[in-house]
Amino acid sequence: MMDDTNPYLPYTAKILEAWFETPGDRCIKTFKVSFEDEKVRDTWSHRPGQCAMVGRLGTGESMFCISSSPTEEGYLRFSIMRAGKNTAALHELEAGDTMTVRGPLGNSFPVEEWEGKNIITIGGGIGQAPLRPVINYIRANKDSYGDLTVLYGARTSEDHCFKGEFEEFFSEGTTCHLSVDVEEEKWPHFVGFVPTLLMEVSPSPDNAIAVTCGPPVMINFVVQNLEKLGFAPEQIYTTLEERMKCGIGKCGRCNIGNLYVCKDGPVFSYATLKKIPEAFA
Ligand SMILES: Cc1cc2nc3c(=O)[nH]c(=O)nc-3n(C[C@H](O)[C@H](O)[C@H](O)COP(=O)(O)OP(=O)(O)OC[C@H]3O[C@@H](n4cnc5c(N)ncnc54)[C@H](O)[C@@H]3O)c2cc1C
Ligand code: FES
Repeated sequence: MMDDTNPYLPYTAKILEAWFETPGDRCIKTFKVSFEDEKVRDTWSHRPGQCAMVGRLGTGESMFCISSSPTEEGYLRFSIMRAGKNTAALHELEAGDTMTVRGPLGNSFPVEEWEGKNIITIGGGIGQAPLRPVINYIRANKDSYGDLTVLYGARTSEDHCFKGEFEEFFSEGTTCHLSVDVEEEKWPHFVGFVPTLLMEVSPSPDNAIAVTCGPPVMINFVVQNLEKLGFAPEQIYTTLEERMKCGIGKCGRCNIGNLYVCKDGPVFSYATLKKIPEAFA
């Protein structure tokens, strides 16, 4: 629901809560926000996988996935890693401050097409941000889906996002496999890279959809391993993160092949990406 008259005009949103998910130079901060304009608040709708341009007035805007599910009503969440100028400016904001939000942008995961199927999410690092709305959408509509299996890895246990939610997964019976890249004291879960965790868990491709997001190198190996496990390209979905400017298919900044990632994506099936050599370049 972008402004009909000017798609570049953002809405302002008040930060309700803000907290750090991970430490370090490239720390990740989550913002829970609510639109200031009541009409926007009441009419906003988005789908799992959609994004928005988020910014701070006077600094600029960048593309981020909406890390809350549409089933979480009354607010949006963005989980933002500090990378450069815009993200450093956003990280200075706290509860009570405002940010700008332009969206929802892009396509989304076809969650209705997946009804009745087993869903496996495979995330690495900040790549769990676009998977979180899928996971929470399926948890909220669990009668419409088969089994949900969450695989999530990060460099260290401190680098996992959404740590507080793992206990909920375990206690409600959602299968959740966590990993860290290197051994650490008292870590009770898997040690190794996410593609290796995937082979360890070896989910069945029968009546299943696999959704993976993370660093490109991880996605590459995860996709190769899913194919080894018997998943067809049509059963595998991911998101792409080309550099973006307009976010609405006008500037040509984000194209791969004949597709604009901002408008035709960011969600793609591997069946589509296989036909585009640049997609995994
Ligand atoms: C569809 C989409 C969804 C995204 N979702 C998220 C999200 O949920 N959380 C999040 O933290 N980030 C996300 N990003 C990446 C985010 O947009 C960039 O990190 C941000 O634009 C960096 O802005 P900056 O001004 O702080 O850094 P810049 O000064 O622009 O760049 C700093 C560093 O980050 C690299 N960088 C910038 N943009 C990208 C990009 N798109 N992909 C990879 N590297 C980049 C640059 O090469 C440079 O090394 C997403 C990007 C896209 C396209
Ligand atoms: S960011 Fe402008 S066309 Fe995609």
